[in-house]
Formats: sequence, structure tokens, C-alpha cells
Amino acid sequence: MKPGGYSRAQIVLHWIVFLLVVQQFVFSEYIEEAWEKIAEGAEMQFSPLIALHVFGGILIALLVVWRLVLRVRRGVPASPGAETPAQKTIAHGTHHALYLLLILMPVSGAAAWFLGLEPAATAHGYAKVAVIVLVLLHVIGALHHQFILRDNLLNRMKTPRG
Ligand code: HEM
Ligand code: HEM
Repeated sequence: MKPGGYSRAQIVLHWIVFLLVVQQFVFSEYIEEAWEKIAEGAEMQFSPLIALHVFGGILIALLVVWRLVLRVRRGVPASPGAETPAQKTIAHGTHHALYLLLILMPVSGAAAWFLGLEPAATAHGYAKVAVIVLVLLHVIGALHHQFILRDNLLNRMKTPRG
């Protein structure tokens, strides 16, 4: 049996991860600069803004694993009723791809930063583009529900239900 809605933990985790992802984008230029300097052979200076990217990214990975455990153990509510089969497929595909990317980003970032692997940094850059595209699609979907279908979908990520 699917639960009637998302739990408090699932909702809180969704919005914390959202804020952390925004933070990763806003402060990424510092680690990017450091990465370029290291490639030129310069000495690395410790910077709290670089540490923020590294630890923020690792925290995202841990919280996403927690979300996936909750998803498997507790489950997620059924798709909103008004969706066509095609819309359901797009929504589910987007959710799964976002989970995958939020694991791929920290893994590729860590492989670049800790192991010095250039291809991992390239993958990190491509994954970044995919995150932007999928989050845009996800937000357009949420707004479509809210303002065109008017089924108050946003409330599902606001009010916990058993
Ligand atoms: C979900 C987690 C993460 C997100 C959303 C994220 C996002 C970003 C973004 C937007 C950039 C700028 C890239 C560009 O403009 O081309 C970047 C660069 C970088 N990040 Fe992350 N990052 C994450 C996790 C991590 C982690 C955990 C590490 C290291 C332990 C890391 C290491 C790096 C490095 C070394 C760069 C510079 C190299 C490059 O540009 O690819 N990232 N990251
Ligand atoms: C970094 C940005 C975001 C990521 C990575 C993300 C990721 C996700 C994922 C993976 C799910 C599926 C949860 C599950 O069923 O296991 C989800 C659900 C949801 N998200 Fe986001 N989200 C982001 C931002 C947003 C924003 C900005 C909004 C609001 C405009 C939003 C609204 C929702 C809603 C309403 C649901 C529930 C959908 C449903 O009930 O089927 N998300 N999100």
C-alpha cells in the first residue's frame, strides 16, 4: 500500500537538499578557480568557501542516500490523479534522474578533488548541466500542476500525510 503523502522527514529532506544544491551552485566559483590553479601547478591555499563546496556536496550525498532508504522503506504517494500516462512517465523519470545525478555529482566531484582525476571534473561539468535542465523541468512540472491543473501539488511537499 502506498502512503497517502510524503512524511515530515521526506519533506524536510527535500527542501534541505534543495537549499544545499542552490548553495553548491552559488559558491562553486571558488573551487573552480582552485581547480584551475592546481592544474597550473600552483599551491592550494585552504579556503572556507572551498570546504563549503566539498562538505556541502558530501552532505548532499548522505542526505540523498537517506531519502532513497526512506523511499524504499516507507514508499511515496501515488502520482497525482490528473496526470496522463505520459506525464507520469516524465515525472517519475525526472525524479529518478535527479536522484542519480545527486549521487553522481558528489562522486565525480570527490574523484576530481581527492584523486586529481581530470575526466571526473569533466563529468562533474556535464552532470551540472543535466541538473540544471532536470530541475527546470521539475519546477515547470510543479508549476503546471499548481497553476494549470490547479490540484495544489505543492501541498504534497509541504504538509506531511501518513
Ligand atoms: C550535489 C553536489 C554538488 C553539486 C551540485 C556541485 C556543483 C558544482 C558546480 C555547479 C561547479 C562549477 C562547474 C562549472 O561551472 O563548470 C562545481 C565545480 C567543482 N566541484 Fe562540485 N558540486 C557538488 C559536489 C562536489 C563535491 C562533493 C566535490 C569534492 C569533494 C566537488 C568538487 C568540485 C570541483 C573540484 C570543481 C571544479 C572542477 C570543475 O569545474 O568540474 N563538488 N561543482
Ligand atoms: C535542487 C532542486 C530540487 C531537486 C533535486 C528536487 C528533487 C525532487 C525529487 C527527487 C522528488 C521526488 C521525491 C520522491 O518521490 O521520492 C521531488 C518531489 C517534489 N518536488 Fe522537488 N526538487 C527540487 C526542487 C523543487 C522545487 C524548487 C519545487 C517547487 C517549485 C519542488 C517541488 C516538488 C514537489 C511538489 C514534489 C512532489 C511531487 C509529487 O508529489 O509527485 N522541488 N523533488
